[in-house]
Amino acid sequence: MTWFSGPLLAIETSCDETSVAILRGSAILANIISSQAQLHEKWGGVVPEAASRAHLEAFLPVLDSALATAKVSLRDLRGIAVTNRPGLIGALSVGVTVAKTLAFSLNLPLIGVHHLEGHLFSIFANGKDFPFPNAALVVSGGHTELIRVSSPGEVEILVQTMDDAAGEAFDKGARLLGLPYPGGLRVQEAARTGNAKRYPLPICAPRDFAHFSFSGLKTAMLRLVESTPDLNRQDAAASLQHAIVEALVQKTMRAMDTHDLHALSLVGGVSANVALRSRLQSECAKRSIPFACPELEFCTDNAAMIGLAGSWRLEAGFRDDLTLDSSPTAAL
Ligand code: KG4
Ligand code: ZN
Repeated sequence: MTWFSGPLLAIETSCDETSVAILRGSAILANIISSQAQLHEKWGGVVPEAASRAHLEAFLPVLDSALATAKVSLRDLRGIAVTNRPGLIGALSVGVTVAKTLAFSLNLPLIGVHHLEGHLFSIFANGKDFPFPNAALVVSGGHTELIRVSSPGEVEILVQTMDDAAGEAFDKGARLLGLPYPGGLRVQEAARTGNAKRYPLPICAPRDFAHFSFSGLKTAMLRLVESTPDLNRQDAAASLQHAIVEALVQKTMRAMDTHDLHALSLVGGVSANVALRSRLQSECAKRSIPFACPELEFCTDNAAMIGLAGSWRLEAGFRDDLTLDSSPTAAL
C-alpha cells in the first residue's frame, strides 16, 4: 500500500470523541482523543446537541496538543482528512467546518473519509501490513458487519445485523446490569471474574448465517435481571459477553468458509474486547489464516484511523473540494 508522505492532519468528530491526529505516511506522529463519555454518562447515552457543543469546546486544545506532540506546525501540513459521514450531523459538522477552513486558508488538499473505512484502515497503523482479499468484522456502537475487502476501497457487505449493533448489545446489557455508559469495557471488566455458564443466554439467531441479531439477547437479559433478585453481576456480565462473542465468532467463521476468505481483520470499538480478540485469534490460528486487530488506542473512535484512510485516498488521487458536506447516513 502506498501512503501520502507529507504531514497529514486528520480529524474525527462523528460521535462523542474529539480527535486529531498527525501522520507521516502510515506513521502516527500524534493521536489525541478527548472523550465525552463522562458528559454523556448521566444520560446513559450520547445526547447529540451536547456532543456538538463539547466538540466545539474541545477542538482547539486537541488540535494544539496534536501539533505539539507531533512537533509539526500548521505551515508544515500537506493535507487534511476528515470524517464527513456517517454520524451525528451536528458533531460531524464541527470537524468538517474546521477541515474546510484549514484547507482553504492553508491551500491544502482535502479528503472526506467514511467513518467505517477509517475503522477498516486502523490495522495499518505504523507500517503494519495485511493481505487482500480479506474479511473484516466491523463491530462498533452503530455497526456490526462482516465485509469482504477485495482491495483498499473495494468492499462488499457479507453479513450485517438485523437490529442492534454488537456495541449496542454491550451498552444496553451494561445498563441493565447497572454499569455506566459506555458499557462495553465495564462488561469486560465485570466479566473477568464471572462464570459465563451461570446464566445461559441465547446465541443470536443460531441458524441464520446471513445476519447478526442482538435484540433477542437484550430481551433475554431484561428477563434475567427482572426474574433474578440476587443476580450475580460478574456472572451475568460474563454470560452476556459470552453470548455476544460466540454469535460474532460462529457467524464470522462460517461466512468466511462460505465466501472462501482466508484472512480476517477485527476492527471498530468492540474490537477492544479481549475475549473477542482471543477467540477470533485462536479460530484463525486453527485454520492457519492471518488475523489482525488494531492496537487498543486505534480500536475505539480516533483520528489516526481517519488519517490512514485519508492518506491512502489522497495518494490514490482522490480529492474533495470546499463543497464537502457531512452526512448522517452513508453506505460504505
Ligand atoms: O467505534 P466506536 O468507538 O464508536 C462507534 O463508531 O460506534 O465503538 C464504541 C463501542 C461502544 O458500544 C463500546 O461499548 C464498545 O465500542 N466497546 C467495547 C469495548 N470497548 C469499547 N465493547 C466490548 N468490550 C470492550 N472492551
Ligand atoms: Zn467508530
